[in-house]
Amino acid sequence: MNERLAGKVVLITGGANGLDGQLMGFGGAFARTAAREGASVVITDVDEKNGQLTASQIEDSGSKALFARLDVTKSAEWQAAILVAQDAYGRLDVLVNNAGILAAFDVEHTSEEDWERVLAVHATGAFLGTKYVAPVMRQTGGGSIVNISSIAAMVGNPSSTAYATAKGAIRSFTKSAAIQLAGDGIRVNSLHPGFADTPFTVDSLGDPAVLKRRLSGIPMGRLATAQEVANAILFLASDESSYVTGAELVVDGGCLAQ
Ligand SMILES: NC(=O)c1ccc[n+]([C@@H]2O[C@H](COP(=O)([O-])OP(=O)(O)OC[C@H]3O[C@@H](n4cnc5c(N)ncnc54)[C@H](O)[C@@H]3O)[C@@H](O)[C@H]2O)c1
Repeated sequence: MNERLAGKVVLITGGANGLDGQLMGFGGAFARTAAREGASVVITDVDEKNGQLTASQIEDSGSKALFARLDVTKSAEWQAAILVAQDAYGRLDVLVNNAGILAAFDVEHTSEEDWERVLAVHATGAFLGTKYVAPVMRQTGGGSIVNISSIAAMVGNPSSTAYATAKGAIRSFTKSAAIQLAGDGIRVNSLHPGFADTPFTVDSLGDPAVLKRRLSGIPMGRLATAQEVANAILFLASDESSYVTGAELVVDGGCLAQ
């Protein structure tokens, strides 16, 4: 079977949780998927320990992977990580803006610091990544940018005000970037996962009462796995989605269909 990302270079933010035998995040699961599908993978994160380990496990399995530290809120770190990717692999075809943090407070209990921090990681992170990656992708005739948003971008959220706002910013940023970069062959899409079993949700969904409430709102009656979200990222990253840009792909077990 043909490899679906053969010859492509992929940079993933927040990709550290991809350790063999452990609960994976979307970025970590996609790093492994991309490597299996023939890509050279640049895993980035602020979690240097797990990021290095994930990259070396992928290398040990015979694929090309490396880790670069990247705090997505820092312009200089973006530029350095992109240089690392270019030096190692010569090009950059796919960017997955996946890094994320949560602040689970309603409007009145959200501090100004939390508001700024959450918007910085999600919205500013996706903006800076797109800004610095676009000229590099243009050099080789195009690329694909996949912005990990959430179903929280699409409906009101009872508790995670800053998070839902930041995911909404990613959703609309995606459309502006898509129309501005379409002429350069750069596609930009947003992906909207529902509730998934990852290190990100271990604390909240580890509470049986919260889990029961969540499951009751999911028509498929279960959480997503990181691999199921990675499979959707793969479609948007690969040339199989060559006519898809500015689109929203919902992966939520039917939550928003109700
Ligand atoms: N798990 C879910 O149910 C769910 C649902 C919808 C959307 N999401 C989104 O998916 C994305 C990935 O989350 P996940 O569930 O796979 O968990 P995850 O914990 O594996 O991913 C988040 C990663 O982001 C990294 N990170 C945090 N701040 C950073 C920064 N400033 N710079 C770079 N990296 C940083 C963390 O170290 C972590 O590795 C997040 O954007 C999250 O909001 C998750």
